[in-house]
Amino acid sequence: MWLTWRAAMEQALYGENGFYLRECPSGHFRTSVGASPVFAEAVLRELIAVDDALGNPPAVDLVDIGAGEGELAAGVLSAAPPELRSRLRVTGVDLASRPARLPGEIGWAAAVPDGICGLVVANEWLDNVPVDVAEQTADGPRLILVDPATGAERLGDRPQETDLAWLSCWWPMRAVGERAEIGRPRDEAWTTVIVRLARGRAIAIDYAHPVDDRPPYGTLTGYRDGAAVAPVPDGSCDITAHVALDACAAAGERAGAATTALTTQRQALRALGVTGTRPPVDLARTDPRGYLQTLARSSQEAELIAPEGLGGFGWLTQDRL
Ligand SMILES: C[S@@+](CC[C@H](N)C(=O)[O-])C[C@H]1O[C@@H](n2cnc3c(N)ncnc32)[C@H](O)[C@@H]1O
Repeated sequence: MWLTWRAAMEQALYGENGFYLRECPSGHFRTSVGASPVFAEAVLRELIAVDDALGNPPAVDLVDIGAGEGELAAGVLSAAPPELRSRLRVTGVDLASRPARLPGEIGWAAAVPDGICGLVVANEWLDNVPVDVAEQTADGPRLILVDPATGAERLGDRPQETDLAWLSCWWPMRAVGERAEIGRPRDEAWTTVIVRLARGRAIAIDYAHPVDDRPPYGTLTGYRDGAAVAPVPDGSCDITAHVALDACAAAGERAGAATTALTTQRQALRALGVTGTRPPVDLARTDPRGYLQTLARSSQEAELIAPEGLGGFGWLTQDRL
């Protein structure tokens, strides 16, 4: 059976007994959320800033899209000061079912709720939104078909006109043999978020690449048990591809976003006070326990902002305030 990559990813990740409906993501890869509670604390600072900008409304939302095991939602809720907590409505959105140990105050939904007033965060969501893959041939772009059982590939039809238009605008292929991941479904997914954001801020955080520096052979990768593996869409592993966040940003603007900032996680977290600064060595003599605690925290911060690692992720921030 030959499928387009988008159909194969859809089936492998979210179909009957699909990878994400069956597995705990943290067993297979590490995200900023799982790396350290420092990440949830930074998101809380962002939420407080959004709440202030909104004039501290009677109810303020935190919506975590692609919430997985709900760790970010739970971390922000438990760190929130009592006054904010009394007004906070936290919702995890995921196709997977509600995690068993999620606090009862946190709502859970399979689709992005409408009328959001507050902060939306989507950490490593868009890279799991299925995409088609095209290859440049002497006759122009053709879709790549894949055998889900083996990962073997062959050429299929020409992409539809909307996908050809997306490719020529956002991922023009230059030489025969180059490959591109057609990000249009991610643009549409992000559009849904901006449309359902009544007032507030939406942030997408992901592996990203800009239009003037797309990887010529794409980024399709599999993950299983903490290791990168061949992307065989048989349901046994995660299948991911980096995100054209600049295209999502343009889609968000068309959907009504008033402001856009596209930056790195390093810059975004530094602005939220995550600096990785080590404690002064003198502290080790005067307060050894305090020194060790501060040192542990600074190394967690350093991991979140490391330029070659999590700090290199893209942050797309769009407001409707
Ligand atoms: C890589 S995990 C990220 C989990 C968590 N945000 C973290 O950072 O640890 C991606 C999650 O997105 C979810 N997901 C993918 N497409 C979705 C969709 N259309 N609606 C809701 N959740 C989706 C998957 O089920 C999975 O739990």
